[in-house]
Amino acid sequence: MDLGIINKVALVTGGARGIGLAIAERLVEEGCQVVAADIDEHAGHNLPSEVSFAVCDVSDESECEELLNAVADQIGPVDILVNNAGIQSVLSLEEATLEDWERVIRINLTSAFMLSKLVVPEMKRRGWGRVINIASMAGKVGGLTVSASYATSKAGMMGLTKSVARAGAPEVTSNAVCPAFIATPMTDPEMEAEYARQIPVGRIGRPEEIAAAVAFLASDLAAYITGEVFDLNGGLLMD
Ligand SMILES: NC(=O)c1ccc[n+]([C@@H]2O[C@H](COP(=O)([O-])OP(=O)(O)OC[C@H]3O[C@@H](n4cnc5c(N)ncnc54)[C@H](O)[C@@H]3O)[C@@H](O)[C@H]2O)c1
Repeated sequence: MDLGIINKVALVTGGARGIGLAIAERLVEEGCQVVAADIDEHAGHNLPSEVSFAVCDVSDESECEELLNAVADQIGPVDILVNNAGIQSVLSLEEATLEDWERVIRINLTSAFMLSKLVVPEMKRRGWGRVINIASMAGKVGGLTVSASYATSKAGMMGLTKSVARAGAPEVTSNAVCPAFIATPMTDPEMEAEYARQIPVGRIGRPEEIAAAVAFLASDLAAYITGEVFDLNGGLLMD
């Protein structure tokens, strides 16, 4: 099925591995010109040849600006922004430090604010754009296995998603997806069976399943969906 996004320029942050890589690969399959921006140069240099790589620390404002200028010069202005880069923290409230809090919020949330602020006006000017944020079930229910900083960063992603949906309308849609347990380097393989027991579909998710939802939200089929938060959790949370 043609999703109507052939030749669109897609930027996927944290696109060198895990969910971001699956999103980058899926958007390539749908005909997009994809740039994966990631701090991990080693993983970035092992990407499939169809995915362009840009080294970038998305928590740094000037690196975000340089990234967008380079993408615009070399490929074209960004049509589809996927704010996926993230780090996990598992510190308890007692153990957590202000440094951990600020680092997690800056990488997981402030980066998405900075990039959205930089790309949405140009998307509006050109009459089409998509912002898709990777949040987490932790942002809805608090951290089950993760820190308050992580859960708060993901709750913030939902507020940012809705604010960008209002600011970007009518030309730009902005939506979030909320995975729960997905098999990536971020998840602990020893805990997979334990998680699976709690999930109605009986297993943890696959990165490709998040990528499929992102491709749909990027497509023209989803033109009437904005400000929405999609749960992708195998039924673990039904709200
Ligand atoms: N795996 C899960 O179960 C799960 C569940 C809910 C939400 N998520 C979210 O999905 C997203 C992807 O997670 P994943 O499981 O693929 O994790 P991952 O650790 O495999 O991938 C995260 C990627 O982000 C990159 N990154 C980290 N800091 C960066 C920075 N400052 N600048 C640029 N890139 C940076 C990493 O290098 C890595 O390639 C994250 O936002 C995560 O919070 C994951």
